[in-house]
Amino acid sequence: MAEIVIRNTNERISDEAGVQEFLAKQEVLYEKWDISKLPDELKENFTLSDEQKARILSTFDSEIKDLAARRGYKIWDIITLSEATPNLEELLAKFENIHTHTEDEIRAIVGGKGIFIIKGADDLGYFNVELSPGDVISVPENTPHFFTLMENQKIVAVRLFIEENGWVAHNYDDPTFVKA
Ligand SMILES: [Fe+2]
Repeated sequence: MAEIVIRNTNERISDEAGVQEFLAKQEVLYEKWDISKLPDELKENFTLSDEQKARILSTFDSEIKDLAARRGYKIWDIITLSEATPNLEELLAKFENIHTHTEDEIRAIVGGKGIFIIKGADDLGYFNVELSPGDVISVPENTPHFFTLMENQKIVAVRLFIEENGWVAHNYDDPTFVKA
């Protein structure tokens, strides 16, 4: 289940109702998929073949179609990052710049862990959303954010897009952001 850390105060929100209430207030979509539907050999597997990726997408076909119908997504795929990813450190360095997109950035976590760092409303500042398998999150369009991995440096996630170029990153220089 997702957990929140408010970076300015170090306050951690770990209870499900609290996480849901916090993210709803920040207009961040947060839902759950039943990750137990996934066959065992596809759980926490970070070296997926194309055929295995297709099986993950078909396992969650109804969840994907439901999101697409509600929110207008037209294309989806699977992203995997792990120590097996060529140039992982370079990729992460690129990810770790605050940016915005003209469409929302939605991810359904299938394996591993990851963190979205998102700029909150008003004087809240930035908050971390730590994500586990089954968490579905959408960063709203035009909201400054970035994504990174947690200590285990592994993740598998489903990404959904409205337009092929909608996820282009626009850099957002923010002097108020303080790295951990
Ligand atoms: Fe992004």
